[in-house]
Amino acid sequence: MCGIVGYIGTQPATDILMAGLERLEYRGYDSAGIATVWEGEIQCVRAKGKLYNLREKLERTDNQARLGIGHTRWATHGKPEEYNAHPHTDTHQRVAVVQNGIVENYRELREDLKKRGHEFRSDTDTEVIPHLIAEFLPEPSTPDFQHPNAFLDAVRQAVNQLHGAFAIAIICADYPDELIVARQQAPLILGFGQGEFFCASDTPALVPHTHAVLNLENGELARLTPLGAEVYNFAGERLRKFPRTLNWNPVQVEKQGFRHFMLKEIFEQPGVVRTCLEAYVSSDWSAGENDGSSAIPDQNPVAGDTPSITTPIQLGLPESLYENLEHVQILACGTSWHASLVGKYLIEQLAGIPTMVQYASEFRYAPSPLTRNTLTIGVTQSGETADTLAALEMEKRRRTGLGQEYQPRLVGITNRSESSLAHLVPHIIETFAGMEIGVAATKTFVTQLVVFYCLALDLAYQRQTLPPSRIAEIIAGLRQLPSQIELVLSRQEHYLEELAHEFDETQDFIFLGRGINFPIALEGALKLKEVSYIHAEGYPAGEMKHGPIALLDAKVPVVAIAMPGTVYEKVLSNAQEAKARDARLIGVTPMHDPEAAQTFDILLSVPVVEELLSPILAVMPLQLLAYHIAARRGLDVDQPRNLAKSVTVE
Ligand code: F6R
Repeated sequence: MCGIVGYIGTQPATDILMAGLERLEYRGYDSAGIATVWEGEIQCVRAKGKLYNLREKLERTDNQARLGIGHTRWATHGKPEEYNAHPHTDTHQRVAVVQNGIVENYRELREDLKKRGHEFRSDTDTEVIPHLIAEFLPEPSTPDFQHPNAFLDAVRQAVNQLHGAFAIAIICADYPDELIVARQQAPLILGFGQGEFFCASDTPALVPHTHAVLNLENGELARLTPLGAEVYNFAGERLRKFPRTLNWNPVQVEKQGFRHFMLKEIFEQPGVVRTCLEAYVSSDWSAGENDGSSAIPDQNPVAGDTPSITTPIQLGLPESLYENLEHVQILACGTSWHASLVGKYLIEQLAGIPTMVQYASEFRYAPSPLTRNTLTIGVTQSGETADTLAALEMEKRRRTGLGQEYQPRLVGITNRSESSLAHLVPHIIETFAGMEIGVAATKTFVTQLVVFYCLALDLAYQRQTLPPSRIAEIIAGLRQLPSQIELVLSRQEHYLEELAHEFDETQDFIFLGRGINFPIALEGALKLKEVSYIHAEGYPAGEMKHGPIALLDAKVPVVAIAMPGTVYEKVLSNAQEAKARDARLIGVTPMHDPEAAQTFDILLSVPVVEELLSPILAVMPLQLLAYHIAARRGLDVDQPRNLAKSVTVE
């Protein structure tokens, strides 16, 4: 949510900032701007709309500055207009600031600053920051102006007055060899080059230049100069910090011949599901012959050999997390919330533990009463979603200091092991989906599901709620999924591209599912509305007759997920109810199923798998349907209007 970049070094800053912003555009794209220090002045260029508008404006300038900051915006305070675009400057245009986050006390600060003669030019919360910093900067005529920490101290004093969650980068025309950055609850990463230093909201902006990075922590600020980077806390104490090496390949963030990142990421799903399974499912565990007993370890280990692994799943979680476990609660937003609903089904049905799934944004202000011996799982692909982080923090706080059985047991499921989530919770289960650039989550969702299968199986194994033979059967089914996904994608890609033509005029869609596939109906509807702007609703199929059926007519296609299992016949009956109201019926069904062929007008067939394993296959055609309808309408599939990839504001 908003992307910030900064550069200081020996190369022209503008090119580096623009390239960085292009890689962060997924975070927000309603306006953009850059500011540099050039010939003793702040040069600020901003444009409404997408980055190419800014690029066009910059082509008309000649700026060789070696220091600058850039921003791509997702509006929170103030409309997406040029005057609200970052960078923002102080009254005399000596200080320029870009921010990702929200300054919650900006109204009071703004009123005070106005009373002291500061002139404001935007409706944003951010604009208070350069004015505040300017207040703390020494006058050029005073000896303090020459003090080596003058700029750093001014920023430090200013950030100590800000409330909220923010990451900021600041330049000042009077200190042309310094770039100052600060972080409080919003991501900010430093990049270390040879005689040049970078900062960015996320690593894709840094990987073309360096793999040596350092994540700033909350309450830290840093001074970057061409000679080095120094990190301080908000109290002004210098901290010793060491960069880490990113094991990233810049190719991961290229489209590699696909028209959109979303399509590329859909096609990466067989590979990432395989990787995730390989990470967590033991290759040498076997259920043994004795069904009903726990798995049988190697009876005759050779002396000196590593003992054979006796658990089917290796998540790396300490045993204490599972001890006397009575409840699981899962906190998430959006697509991650849908994955969590599948997780609930799996944990309850396989491991028999009562599980609640809560919208993090609701839970943080109205938490359920405390339950004993509860595992709390935060699910967020980005690891930066403000609501999810705040809900987890609140849960940790309200349990700390209580009796043993109420102690917090926190786990995070994320695709970004270096994210803020990883700093907040002691245990992370990584999803290994690789970088996802398309704003609509696809491969991160599917790998979240894989993690939930692993977690539910691990719990089932530890609590002996399933016989090992059944665990082995489910694992064998999971291992088939990557090739089955490949089959679905290869068979349906062109079919769905063609089919998309039929929905040129469609304005509403209904998605139905039951049981473990109800969340997939929700996800299918969310994907479609996000990228195509078509109104779409997901319902549990049995609920349709209680109201939504009133929406149905020949113009409203109904997509039903009907996979053989406990609710198959029920879903087919619910689909018939829709057909009787003239709705066009699209079925996500098993291949070669005569009953499905009779019921549905359009079949999106997937390989026959047991119901428990069907969500991962069922979501594939729904992702492709959403993608092709949106692409055919000529929409910006990777950066849909009003959305952002990582929602770091409340
Ligand atoms: C949907 C989508 C959003 C996110 C939601 C939570 O395609 O991407 O609904 O799922 O904003 O994001 P994370 O998982 O990063 O917490």
